[in-house]
Amino acid sequence: MNYFDYRDNRLFCEEVSVEEIAREAGTPFYLYSHRTLKQHFQVFDAAFGEIPHMICYAVKANSNTAILRLFAREGGGVDLVSGGELYRALKAGVEPGKIVYSGVGKRDDEIDFALKTGILMFNVESDQELRTINERAATMGVRAGIALRVNPDVDPQTHPHISTGLKENKFGIDVEGALVSYRNAVALSSLDIKGVSCHIGSQVTKVSPFIDALERLKDLIRRLREEGIAIRYLDLGGGLGIAYDRETPPHPDEYARAIIDASKDLDCTFIFEPGRVIVGNAGILVTRVLYTKANDGKRFIIVDAGMNDLIRPSLYGAFHQIRPVVRRGGEEIMADVVGPICETGDFLARGRLLPDFRRGELMAVMSAGAYGFAMSSNYNSRPRVPEILVRDERWYVIRKRETCEDLTRGEEIPDFMNV
Ligand code: LLP
Repeated sequence: MNYFDYRDNRLFCEEVSVEEIAREAGTPFYLYSHRTLKQHFQVFDAAFGEIPHMICYAVKANSNTAILRLFAREGGGVDLVSGGELYRALKAGVEPGKIVYSGVGKRDDEIDFALKTGILMFNVESDQELRTINERAATMGVRAGIALRVNPDVDPQTHPHISTGLKENKFGIDVEGALVSYRNAVALSSLDIKGVSCHIGSQVTKVSPFIDALERLKDLIRRLREEGIAIRYLDLGGGLGIAYDRETPPHPDEYARAIIDASKDLDCTFIFEPGRVIVGNAGILVTRVLYTKANDGKRFIIVDAGMNDLIRPSLYGAFHQIRPVVRRGGEEIMADVVGPICETGDFLARGRLLPDFRRGELMAVMSAGAYGFAMSSNYNSRPRVPEILVRDERWYVIRKRETCEDLTRGEEIPDFMNV
């Protein structure tokens, strides 16, 4: 469910016409629906109402501080993977006690920042990291909450680039290795063992891989408890998929039901780290057609957004629906939608049956709220596009369009080049 819909053949976000925003803000831009974001968060949260749980939104999916603030106001925490994300979360007002910190490569200064903040726990991905966190905490005279990120070796049946819970992936520690590390952790006096965590992959469209992972974690928790190691939190990560095209991912209610049913008497507080399922279908990328052409019969629609703005099609061959902002009917054509970047891989859609877009018309690239702006870059020296949030009949720029000065900020020409 989202709030992007046509009224009299014009695309609206909630009560605002997308065309009107484009007229004032220029193109391209990301557009998010406040109502959709809030509803997605609430639906996910409510699905777990029967069990003690925390929703730690995965900041990497969309890290705009206004969006983080929205979730913080709903009572959410966050899952981070860098000091930069921690900075954002704090700026947005997320409570430190609701922050978990994942990632295989935490730097010392990032660990220190998180320790100073007093986050709930680190999801630790190696024995060396465990020892490093212990040392940093000892130096600072604090105790670090930790969970080990277990690699449960289950196949999430998703795109290989975004599957993370297989043993050949770099993430986490295998179950037997984790047992050894937990025993090590007991002896490290500046650590406070809080839980077990995992994250099996992203855009997972079935419930079964999550349940397989959960079963392995339950077994590990049982073994740890037998050894007297208390486990209070079970972090199942994120990864629930969305419909970009014809996928039929489980509704959060179905996902939750299966998890709740599989975890009777576990006596843990669950943590979830959803990203895409909350923000993915709450955002679109709006772009304008610059030109159309046909090379030897192959048709191209050239738009003003490129792979630097939305890299998912180029990087993963990801599918995003393309819709006209103003529907005018007429014939459909088979075409590629491409951007202005000097790379063959710069496309937003390939071989699609699309309306016969004309120069100047607006196009909406759907389901772009997750890993859209967050993965954008300045490649080809293109200023990053603005992010706009609609709430009912008003819209707000939550990140300004970058300028050319922004592009060269921080660059310096050494003196020797000036003589
Ligand atoms: N927790 C951890 C530890 C993660 O690594 C991720 C995503 C999440 C939570 C959130 O997963 P989600 O609920 O959004 O699936 N750029 C790729 C997706 C990479 C996901 C990386 N980790 C894409 O555009 O599809």
